[in-house]
Amino acid sequence: MKRLLIVWCSTTGGTRQMAEAAERGAQEALEPGDAVEVLRLHAAQAGPADFLSADAIVLATPEHLGSMAGPMKDFLDRAYYACLDRVNGRPWALLVCAGSDGAGTIRQAERIATGLRLRKAAEPVLVITHAQTPEAILAPKAIVAADLERCAATGATLAAGLAAGIW
Ligand SMILES: Cc1cc2nc3c(=O)[nH]c(=O)nc-3n(C[C@H](O)[C@H](O)[C@H](O)COP(=O)(O)O)c2cc1C
Repeated sequence: MKRLLIVWCSTTGGTRQMAEAAERGAQEALEPGDAVEVLRLHAAQAGPADFLSADAIVLATPEHLGSMAGPMKDFLDRAYYACLDRVNGRPWALLVCAGSDGAGTIRQAERIATGLRLRKAAEPVLVITHAQTPEAILAPKAIVAADLERCAATGATLAAGLAAGIW
């Protein structure tokens, strides 16, 4: 059984919806009998063993202060050296939810993935929520359907690739 792992964190719900959409897209891409399971874990619950046991990984994080949110950084801090040289070539993809930017998070995540020698399976999905005032930033987020479909397509790409033996 191959495993697609989706690791996520979220403060106001946007990234959670994106990770759920990726999971749905992955499930919908699988045919009965495909030996692929999809596991979605909060970054605080995920550890190196989860990373090592994943055949493909999606990271879904908000942007906080120009970089990935703390729980995702903490997951990668805990996993990095335990996984170094043990996950070479595994496919990965990135989902980022940002108020107005997201570039710093994408750059940072891609550097970490390069260090781990992961294989980029899809371009990053960046969703901008247009939250720039403190009130808007702290308000619950509702990600529009078109953006959720982009996340679903990323999940589908990874799951279908695992099922087809592409990765
Ligand atoms: C502490 C904090 C820092 C933030 N810093 C940034 C930032 O540097 N750039 C940006 O585009 N958005 C920033 N935002 C906005 C969030 O990225 C945005 O609200 C996003 O939708 C949050 O995703 P979530 O709903 O999954 O928590 C910040 C939000 C918080 C709470």
